[in-house]
Amino acid sequence: MRLVDLRSDTLTRPTPAMRKAMAEAEVGDDVYGEDPTVNRLEALAAERLGFERALFLPSGTMANQVALLLHLPRGGEVLAPEGAHLYEYELGAPALLAGALVRPVPAPGGRPDLKALEEALRRGPFQAPIGLLALENTHNLAGGRVVPLEVQRRVQDLARARGLPTHLDGARLHNAAVFLGVEAREVARGFTTAMVSLSKGLGAPVGSLLLLPKELEAEARRYRKLLGGGWRQAGVLAAAGILALEEGPKHLRRDHEMARALAEGLFRLGLAVDLGAVETNMVYLEVEDPEGFLQGLRARGVLAGRVGGRVRFVTHRDLMDEDIPLTLERVQDLLHSRPR
Ligand SMILES: Cc1ncc(COP(=O)(O)O)c(C=O)c1O
Repeated sequence: MRLVDLRSDTLTRPTPAMRKAMAEAEVGDDVYGEDPTVNRLEALAAERLGFERALFLPSGTMANQVALLLHLPRGGEVLAPEGAHLYEYELGAPALLAGALVRPVPAPGGRPDLKALEEALRRGPFQAPIGLLALENTHNLAGGRVVPLEVQRRVQDLARARGLPTHLDGARLHNAAVFLGVEAREVARGFTTAMVSLSKGLGAPVGSLLLLPKELEAEARRYRKLLGGGWRQAGVLAAAGILALEEGPKHLRRDHEMARALAEGLFRLGLAVDLGAVETNMVYLEVEDPEGFLQGLRARGVLAGRVGGRVRFVTHRDLMDEDIPLTLERVQDLLHSRPR
């Protein structure tokens, strides 16, 4: 039986072209700044995404947390959209590493409520100093929804008026760009720093990028080393990262189409999917008994995830065209086998 794995877009395996590039990569010691392939990836990423510098890191979590360390004083506060990955799913790292507080700002559909944000920016003498405004695009917990560029600009304006830096968790920034029909650099524009994952929809086996201005580079490299991210002949990974950055975005439209087809199919089966919320490669489903539903799917050869009390399906490059109709058939079979 074919197993359809819809748990995450991190599941993609390196393509044959990536494996070849990895095998042939020129390498050196990156802690010495001497890995030519890492250097090439970082230069390419900075140029493509419109920043002065880029840093290649093992994970998005490390990149987000390096950003918090760069921007926040200990005891400082970051304002982030509710449900943001950087506080919800990074093991309490802001408290542990940067010594930072996180204030979640109401953000329906992943879009921060600007009035609530302005209110949160007001500070009394006994409150923590705000050190950073963060956004996430696409917003994972909000269903992979896209934050419109106009909203990003308004948030950046609020930050600028107060002399505050901004950080974008753009783990799936290219998904947002494809949805909006703009270049990836447009989604990253105006942020002080941005994180972009190579290991999600773009298909690399490992790695994320932190985009930043050149005056923050030396400190960011120090923090990366401090967190254990000072890697050596990482060119073998950067080689796949270069292909992910160059070729990966071309595949995302298909991922989005598959998510839409899946959402519409689930909706037709009478399941609670918010079709309006399906903008990129994720489909969230409300079911009464998520655990039972997931087990029933697993028994039928479909893997999905449980996120925040809901069932989550994520489409990605390693799926075959027939996987979506196959998933819908199996969901239908599950529904027919259970009292509803
Ligand atoms: C929005 C978002 N930010 C950050 C991360 C962290 O990335 P990593 O798994 O590479 O640490 C994820 C991972 O799923 C994510 O979805």
